[in-house]
This record gives sequence, C-alpha cells and structure tokens, in this order.
Amino acid sequence: MTGAPVQPQITVLDAGGQYCHLIARKVRESGVYAEVRPSDTPAKELEGRRGLIISGGPSSVYEPGSPSVDRGIFGLGVPVLGICYGHQLMAHLLGGVVERGEKGEYGLAILEHREQDALLAGLPERHQVWMSHRDTVATMPPGFRLLASTATCRIAAMGDPQRRFYGVQFHPEVVHTLFGRQILENFLFPICGCRKDWDLRGRVGELEAFIRRSAGRRNVFFFVSGGVDSAVAFTLCLRALGGQRVRGFYVDTGLMREHETRFVRELFERLAPGSVEIIEAAPRFLSALRGVCDPERKRRIIGDEFIRIQQEILESGHFLEGDWILGQGTIYPDTIESGGSGQAAVIKTHHNRAPGVQRLLEAGSVIEPLSSFYKDEVREIGRELGLPEELLERHPFPGPGLAIRCLCAEAEGELEEHPEGWIAPLRSVGVQGDSRSYRAVLILDQPPVPELEMQAAELVNRLGGINRVVARVAGRAPLAGLRVRPGSLTPERLERLRRADAVVRELSRRSGFDRQVWQFPVILVPLGEPDRPDSVVLRPVDSVDGMTARAVLMRRELLDEMAAALLPIEGISSVFYDLTHKPPGTIEWE
Ligand code: XMP
Repeated sequence: MTGAPVQPQITVLDAGGQYCHLIARKVRESGVYAEVRPSDTPAKELEGRRGLIISGGPSSVYEPGSPSVDRGIFGLGVPVLGICYGHQLMAHLLGGVVERGEKGEYGLAILEHREQDALLAGLPERHQVWMSHRDTVATMPPGFRLLASTATCRIAAMGDPQRRFYGVQFHPEVVHTLFGRQILENFLFPICGCRKDWDLRGRVGELEAFIRRSAGRRNVFFFVSGGVDSAVAFTLCLRALGGQRVRGFYVDTGLMREHETRFVRELFERLAPGSVEIIEAAPRFLSALRGVCDPERKRRIIGDEFIRIQQEILESGHFLEGDWILGQGTIYPDTIESGGSGQAAVIKTHHNRAPGVQRLLEAGSVIEPLSSFYKDEVREIGRELGLPEELLERHPFPGPGLAIRCLCAEAEGELEEHPEGWIAPLRSVGVQGDSRSYRAVLILDQPPVPELEMQAAELVNRLGGINRVVARVAGRAPLAGLRVRPGSLTPERLERLRRADAVVRELSRRSGFDRQVWQFPVILVPLGEPDRPDSVVLRPVDSVDGMTARAVLMRRELLDEMAAALLPIEGISSVFYDLTHKPPGTIEWE
C-alpha cells in the first residue's frame, strides 16, 4: 500500500543516469507529478502520460546491452524529450547517426540558438549549459531540425515540432544550466500540455485520509530509527489514527551517535507520550561483533541481529495477527531498483524487506505513506506537521551506524615511505570500476589544500594498490612514528569515535558548515602510538544521492579548531582529512 495520490503526467525513463531522479524532482518542483520507470518499460504501460523523458546514462548506444526504450513509445502520440544519452538514443532509434567521441565534453558550455522553437522559447539567444558526454549526434533523424549548438557540439538541441520529439545533449536538470528550469517547463506546459497537480501544501490532509482508508480498523506499528523518513511517516500515522492505535519501537544497537537515544526518546515523547518503546540491544550487538574486523562480516552480523530483534518483536506483540499492520518510512528512491554500485541499496532495503516484513507485505499488511516522495518533499511534509528543524535537516545516517565508521585491523602494520607520501596498510572500502575495492590509504604529510584535492584522483590512478588519499591536519607525533594497531569494535573504541563525532558535529553545526555538505562522516582508524592507538579522519562530502560524491574542503580556521578539539580526546593521535571523491573512494570507510 502506498500513498501515491495521482496518476503521473510525466514518466522519466531511467537509462542508468545518476540524474534521472533529479529530472523527476525538477519536474515535480514545477508542480507536475512525475515518476521514474526503467527505460525499457513497455509502451502499453505508459499510455495516458502527457509526456516522456528519456534520461542520461553512462553508456554508448553502440555498446552491446546498453539501455534502450520500447520503440512503441514513439507511436503513443505523446511528446518525448531525450536528455544526453536519451538524446543520442532517440537519434539512433529514429534514423539518425551517433558518433563515438574521443575526448568528450565535460562542464560548462555556451549554447547558441539556431532556430526559434517552443523548447527554447523565451530564452536569450546564448546561455550557459552543463555538458557531460563523450558520444555526439552526428546526423539528425528525418523530420528533426537543428535548434541549438555549442562550440564543440553541433547538434546540442534538436526537435521535430510536428511529432513533438525533442533531444538535448546538455543537462537541463542541473543548476549549472542557467535556464534549465525554463527549458523543462517549456517542455512540460506548452509542448506536453501538463497541468499543475503537484503541491505539497495541503498534502498532509490527503495523506491522513489515505492512512485511515488503508488501515481500516487495524492499528499500525513502526520500527523508527531517529531518521527523517520514519519519523515523518510515524507522525502522519499518529495524526491520522491517534496515539492509541500507533506504536513505535526503536532499537538501540549501541552503534548510535552520542545522545542519539535520548534525542529519539525526547522527540517522540513530545509528539505522543508513550508511543515509542526503546529496545536496549547494545550488549547483543557488541557481543556478536566481538573481534570481527572484516567490513562485510560486520554488516552481515548487524543486519542479521536487527532482523532477529524485529522478528522477536513481531512475534511477541501479536503483530503478525490481523489487527496490526506495519508502517514504514520507505521513500520513493528506496522503491526503485536502479543501477550504480548497488551495495548501499541492497543494505538499505535489508531492514525494510526482512523475512517477517516480507510476509506482511505479501499479506497486504504494510503501509508506506511516503513511498511516492523524495527526501526534500518528505522534509516539506515534516515541516507542515510541525516537526523540529533539528530532525528535518539531519544528514543521512547509515543503518549499521558507527560500526561502518570505526575501521578495524587484525594485525600490526608499518607505514611505508613513498615519493608521494606514506602508504598505510589501513584497508578501507572503495569503488573502482563496477566493483568494491578494499585497499590501502596514501597519507600526504601536509594539510588539505585545493590543489591536493585535484591530485588525489590522479594519485589513486597512478599508484595502484590504493583507493584513498588523506592529508594530515594535525598530530601528536611525526607520521613516521605511527603504526597500524590491531583494533576491533570494542566499547572503548566506539566511545572514542562517539566523542570525536560529537565534537565535529557541534563545531560543524555552530559554524554553519553542516549546511554546506550533504553528509559529514567522522571515521576512527586504528593508526597511532602505543598510548594513543587511534586517529580520526574527517570525511565531509557533497552529493545528490550518495551514489557519487565530492570531497569538500573547509576553511582553514574551522579545520584548526576541529583538530584542536579532537586531539585532547583520550586515545586519539592524529587528525586526517579525506580528499577522495567517490569513485574511487566510497563515502563510508567500513
Ligand atoms: P558509500 O559508503 O557506499 O555510501 O559511498 C553511500 C551512502 O549510503 C549510506 N549508507 C547506508 N545507508 N544503510 C543506510 O541506510 C546502510 O547500510 C548504508 N551503507 C551506506 C552512506 O552513509 C552514504 O550516504
């Protein structure tokens, strides 16, 4: 059961681009309800849409197995807009020619109009767009006209106004395309004839009615995490059904941040006293994790333990019987199987799709009122519900918690001097090519500056055997005096990490830096001296969806302030700064 209230007017066909959700979000921001479907969705299932958009993607149309669309979509009589790869795919399928690019074009370009047309109506003749492609359309399909070019890309925009088919090589959905919103709106309104049907204001009442309808006489129970999605879904159910009919469980795994359990308790106490029960499970998790160092094993143990606890609650509370349904904070991107590294997605869906939960799903006993919304829309709904900003503006936090930010090592290891810096046998997870790597770290013995950020990717490619580059911000001892020391998920190390994380969070909040980044993991690594066996790595990143990310530098004064506050923490030897983008590094170190 989902809360999707209306039939989508626009479908974005996902050709594997990281931008497909961004396109759908931008369409919704313009007030039109859009959904994302796999690129090869049969045309029959898309009947009734007012328009289709084919997204970008990493492939070349000539690669075997590259994403395609059902040619039948061109016979539906609805407008189609191809973006980047989608533009090339349209050219290819409709009788044009796509040429393999050697160098490609990445970044800003100036688009110059060649012909007046509805797609570019009302825009200046020349304006800035964002390009990211290798292949180009060399010959347009029959019926298409050239609408605009850039210096290096002749067919940057093309259109067949008769059939209402359009293709653009640039990305109108990103902010760097200055008139991107207007181009999308030209497609949505004059070309597709969409009407505005998507407004989050007033949506709360509809969602409450949906919940009451779906629940009928049954009650709802939740597993809440302290994150935005489950809190908003839970609050909606409380409002719809009242405190007597809604119950929540929060599992304290012992892998949470400082004062997290208190935050959760106080939050829900304010909303509805007694509605959430805290399950103290730290000893169970910590004993299952004792001595374990391998990242995948850590994840498996945590996932399994969580599922066991869920199952126990399900059985003990008679929740598997007919009077209860399970509420979940699943949001729209969680419901879509898309490409990418997949790892985070697999783990993320873990808890929401555990066997006991699966059974409830099959029996129609799960309600997911937010499953058609994006994160920023969920925040808007949360605001309408009067939830505190402190909750709504939280950065995403991974389910396995601090366990994947507390790097472990089985054996001692020396740093190895290298012309570029020091190679530490601290293996962390990265993503190289299509798979995860587990490799050493290069440490540069100097503070992080913008030039180093540029060099990091080049160093990873050139040196081989590493997947990350960090710069040393401050330390108690010279780098040569540090060693990798055996360390696992002990209460002592977790407490050390919790403290360091709290210190960084506070300074980041106070300085406003937390609003400049998408997420700011603080990592504990087992590298230090005998009486200070660990160090801290700062890992602020910018991202859209966590699939790719950029390392973000901070002001020198703030960095010095953080280092000065971290070094006095018991057991901490040095402070490092992760300069690695994703890929080749992942966001978490595991
Ligand atoms: P990586 O480390 O793969 O992380 O670059 C990408 C994003 O996913 C988050 N993450 C998770 N979120 N459960 C979650 O809910 C998980 O098991 C999980 N693992 C990673 C991570 O924090 C980052 O935002």
